[in-house]
Amino acid sequence: MKILVTGGLGYIGSHTCVELLKDNEVVVLDNLSNSKEEVKDKIKQITGKDIKLYIGNMIDENLLDKIFTEEKIDAVIDFAAYKAVGESVKKPVEYYTNNISTVLVLLKVMKKHDVKKLVFSSSATVYGQPDHVPIKETDKTGGTTNPYGTSKLFVEQILKDLYQSDNSWDIAILRYFNPIGAHESGLIGEEPNGIPANLMPYIVKVASNELECLSVFGNDYPTKDGTGVRDYIHVVDLAKGHIKALEKLEKEQSGLYIYNLGTGIGYSVLDIVKAFEKVNNIKVNYKIAPRRPGDIAECYSDPTKAKEELGWQATKTIEDMCKDAYNYIVKSKEN
Ligand code: NAD
Ligand code: UFG
Repeated sequence: MKILVTGGLGYIGSHTCVELLKDNEVVVLDNLSNSKEEVKDKIKQITGKDIKLYIGNMIDENLLDKIFTEEKIDAVIDFAAYKAVGESVKKPVEYYTNNISTVLVLLKVMKKHDVKKLVFSSSATVYGQPDHVPIKETDKTGGTTNPYGTSKLFVEQILKDLYQSDNSWDIAILRYFNPIGAHESGLIGEEPNGIPANLMPYIVKVASNELECLSVFGNDYPTKDGTGVRDYIHVVDLAKGHIKALEKLEKEQSGLYIYNLGTGIGYSVLDIVKAFEKVNNIKVNYKIAPRRPGDIAECYSDPTKAKEELGWQATKTIEDMCKDAYNYIVKSKEN
C-alpha cells in the first residue's frame, strides 16, 4: 500500500515510518514545526528505504490536493498535531486550529479523492478523570481539562459523525497511553524543545546532566508508593500497533474502530526512576515536589480489545524503554 503519514517526521510518526517501510511505500507531509528534516535521512539509515517528503502545513488544502493527485494514496495515518498540554492552555486557538481544522481539511481532500481509510492518533487523555482502572474503550470519555485533550475528544466526535453520515469510511482511532523510549539504533527518538514537561524526557536530561534534579509531582496519591501511575509503552510497540490497525482497515471494507494502545501495566514515577537507574547504571537525582495541577493518580489501559481484534500486543519491557530512551540521547550527543 502507499500510505500518507502526516506528521511523519515527529516522534511517533518517524518510528511508524520505519515499520511501514518494511512492506509499504510511504509519503510524509510535515511542516517541521516540531521535527527536523534530517529525520528523513535517519529513517533511510535504519531501513535502507526512502520516504517521499512534502514539507508543508496540513491546513493547506491545495497542497493536500496536490499530494493526493500526484501520489496514489491508499490510506492515511494522521499524526500531525501540537501535543503540549501546558502550552495548549495558553494557546487554545492555535491548538484547536492545528489539531482540528487541519483534520477537517484532510477529510475533505480524502473524500474528494475517494480515499477513506484513516488511522487517527488519539490519546488516553480523552478519558478525562477515569472512574476506575484499567480503562476500556467503552468507558466514558469527556471531562478533559485542557484544549489539547479537548481537541482529541472533538476530532474523535467528528470522525464518529463522519462515519455515521457515510459508512463507507474505514477509520481506526488509536488511543495511546504514555509513549516513551526510542528506536534501538539510537538514530530516532523524542526531542522535546526546551525544558521537558513529560517524565521520561526529563529523567533523560537529569541523567545526562542537562538538568539538575527531577521533581516528582506528589507522593501522596492513593497508589502503591504515593506517586502517579501510568501505562508507559515503548514507541516501537506503538508504531507496530499502527501497522496492525492498517491491516484491519485493509481487511474490513468499512467501519469505525477504537483501540487502546498500552501495555496494561501501571508503573509509578519511582518505578520508572529505579528502572532507569538500574538498566543504565546511572543516578537520577530527584526530590518530592507538590502535585502537578490537573494530574490524575492512576491511568492504565485494558489492551484486550487490540489483542483480540488486531492481534497486537506490546512486547517491550520497562527496562527496554528506559535503555532505549537514554541510548538515543547518548547517541545524539556523539553525532
Ligand atoms: P511530535 O510533535 O513529535 O510529532 C508531530 C509531527 O507533526 C511533527 O513532526 C510536527 O512537525 C508535525 N506537524 C504538526 N502540525 C502540523 C501541521 N499542521 N502540518 C504538518 N505537520 C505538522 O508528536 P508525537 O509525540 O509524535 O505525536 C504524534 C501524534 O500522537 C499527535 O497527534 C499527538 O497528539 C498524539 N499523541 C501523542 C502522545 C505522546 O505522548 N507523544 C500521546 C497521545 C497522543
Ligand atoms: N511527572 C513527574 N515529574 C515530571 C514529569 C512528570 O513526577 O517532571 C509525573 C506526573 O505527575 C505523572 C507521570 O510522571 O504522574 C507521567 O507524567 P507525563 O507528563 O509524562 O505524562 P501524563 O500522563 O501526564 O500525560 C501524557 C501526555 C498527554 C497525554 C497523556 C495520556 O503528556 O499528552 O499522557 O496519554 F494526554
